[in-house]
Amino acid sequence: MELTQAHRDALQDILLWRRDVRHFLPDPVPQDVLDRLRKAMDFAPSVGNARPWRVLHVKSTKRRNAVIQNFEAENAKAAKLYQDDQRAAYNALKLAGLREAPVHLAIFTETEPDAGHGLGRQTMPEMLNYSTVAAIHTLWLAARAENLGVGWVSILDPKAVAQALDAVPNWQLTGYLCIGKAASDDDTPLLHRNAWQANAMTKWQEI
Ligand SMILES: Cc1cc2nc3c(=O)[nH]c(=O)nc-3n(C[C@H](O)[C@H](O)[C@H](O)COP(=O)(O)O)c2cc1C
Repeated sequence: MELTQAHRDALQDILLWRRDVRHFLPDPVPQDVLDRLRKAMDFAPSVGNARPWRVLHVKSTKRRNAVIQNFEAENAKAAKLYQDDQRAAYNALKLAGLREAPVHLAIFTETEPDAGHGLGRQTMPEMLNYSTVAAIHTLWLAARAENLGVGWVSILDPKAVAQALDAVPNWQLTGYLCIGKAASDDDTPLLHRNAWQANAMTKWQEI
């Protein structure tokens, strides 16, 4: 299929307007939209075509609360690693929209999948995790095309979260995602706007 300038323009808009979202509206996400996000992950690349990502859609209030409590405890610990003004700046950041987001997805990587027969991961076993990250990013872009925001929450104890969600023992937490309609649109990362970390161009050199 030969793609056109219209495709490139549409992709550019999706890339420009994709954000990590921490402020969500409570509107529910319709099941057909969730089905399309799941299908988007089916298109993601993976090492040896192993497709090691395993998704838990966390609906139970008890389990969601366990994740929220874990985030709050880990975030408080993380704040203590900073001093003075930087700690105040850290504490002023909103680093997850777990309470408001209508959808929580816990995305795990199966560490010993039969699929793929080990192809491509003998020398770099971390490729399984990277494959899951590729699937998450595919979902992230597909969600933006559905006018939904995604927030990646990494300030969590992965083992405690796996336990709270009764995950299979050889599943490793790769990402915990909040999904829903964003409270506002932005073409600039919030951490840039908040003066925590300015955007920089990709470092790229010819050698
Ligand atoms: C692997 C990964 C983990 C992240 N974890 C968090 C997190 O725990 N909390 C948060 O607020 N943002 C998190 N982010 C979002 C980044 O802060 C964000 O991508 C970056 O500031 C650039 O902003 P943008 O995604 O809106 O372009 C994470 C992003 C990635 C890729």
